[in-house]
Amino acid sequence: MVDVILGLQWGDEGKGKIVDFFAPRYDLIARFQGGPNAGHTLYVNDKKIVLHQIPSGIFHEKTTNLIGNGVVLDPVTLKRECNSVAAFGVDYRKNLYISQRAHLILPTHRALDKASETSKGHEKIGSTLKGIGPAYMDKTGRNGLRVGDLLDKSFTTQYIKLRLKHQKLLDGLNFHEDISEWEEEFFEALEFMRSFKIVNGEYFINERISQGKKVLAEGAQGSMLDVDFGTFPFVTSSNTISAGVCSGLGVAPQLIRDVIGVSKAYCTRVGSGPFPTELEDETGEELRKTGSEFGATTGRPRRCGWIDLVALKFACMINGVTKIVMTKADVLDAFKELKVCTAYEVNGQKTTEVPFQMSRLPIVPVLESFEGWKSDITSLKNYNNLPARMKEYVDFINKFLGVKVAFISNGPGRDQLIENL
Ligand code: GDP
Ligand code: IMO
Ligand code: MG
Repeated sequence: MVDVILGLQWGDEGKGKIVDFFAPRYDLIARFQGGPNAGHTLYVNDKKIVLHQIPSGIFHEKTTNLIGNGVVLDPVTLKRECNSVAAFGVDYRKNLYISQRAHLILPTHRALDKASETSKGHEKIGSTLKGIGPAYMDKTGRNGLRVGDLLDKSFTTQYIKLRLKHQKLLDGLNFHEDISEWEEEFFEALEFMRSFKIVNGEYFINERISQGKKVLAEGAQGSMLDVDFGTFPFVTSSNTISAGVCSGLGVAPQLIRDVIGVSKAYCTRVGSGPFPTELEDETGEELRKTGSEFGATTGRPRRCGWIDLVALKFACMINGVTKIVMTKADVLDAFKELKVCTAYEVNGQKTTEVPFQMSRLPIVPVLESFEGWKSDITSLKNYNNLPARMKEYVDFINKFLGVKVAFISNGPGRDQLIENL
């Protein structure tokens, strides 16, 4: 049995906190896509930590963690991350496994990401510059190097061959920065990785499932950044939706049970691309300030706006969401008026469908207004004690989506999660 926790918006919905909360109910937590573009924030003993590639179950002693085949892995970031979890007293060598089929991000992938973004000018994706796109291109282009290759004698030869190929591409893009320091770090980190538990991820996970163990798949990014269904081309390069769990871990679709979708009570996006409910005014600024909306990976200010139920309903459909966790509800505590987007108006026509091409269309959000609840919910523990106006807001969302908001997160802390029974 596999449950999934994934983001329903444009990333940063608070997935890390939610996975950390549910982790004690599972035997194995597995990342199935993405790489160090992710930044999942957790509070452990009131201290903040941001995880990029290590699954968010790492702080629970009894939970095994797997970096699955669908992930693109940067050894340098991994080494750094391992050191930071070790500072919390975690023995990562005991509970962290890596699939041999996961692809490696090379220093030249990072360089290619940067060169590609620079060449796009004002049309850039707003990538995190971690080498994600180029690494996935080498995977689908059948050139990439995988974690399992590290254990092969031919690794260095293969590396040199791929590096030469990348150099030609970099020359074509006029990229002439010296990356020898990145390479030095990279080779040091490869040594570190060779001593890891590198496994056949697909057998590892399926054996545990057949023994009755419970698996939780942890998504990175969000559904609107999915390479197929997101706001293409302003997306990431992997399948962030529940279908990605099957290909990113090697589990069959009928093994998937709950798909828990995480959504903020409002909406944010970092990087370029369409965002119909974006607020480029004081209200947007207030959301950013109150919600501390700055990227966990890059520190960039996040764009903020009202919750977009058109996009959320679409995300529920393509993921088969069974339960919703609404995060950062407390950020709306002081707002007098709240709005939710229930349709898009495109060239005078109303639609409740996400259009094929969002970036070239003038989308005007159709908004419904709600009175704010104007009270502090951060210490509440029980759904019944939530302000009535907040319940109205949540009920409206429940009805619109046809999926229950089963949990409400009312603060960044581990214990700030209210169940809606
Ligand atoms: P992720 O990438 O989906 O794991 O999310 P991030 O960690 O990038 O961003 C979520 C941010 O919101 C982090 O700083 C969390 O500590 C914080 N956070 C999560 N849930 C809540 C919540 O319910 N309320 C508040 N105020 N902050 C939250
Ligand atoms: P988590 O897991 C928010 C965005 C980038 C950019 C686009 C492509 O923390 O939710 P990439 O580096 O993948 O080539 O960037 O996707 N992006 C994210 N935005 N949260 C993330 O991860 C993201 N990972 C990538 O800002 O717009
Ligand atoms: Mg994040």
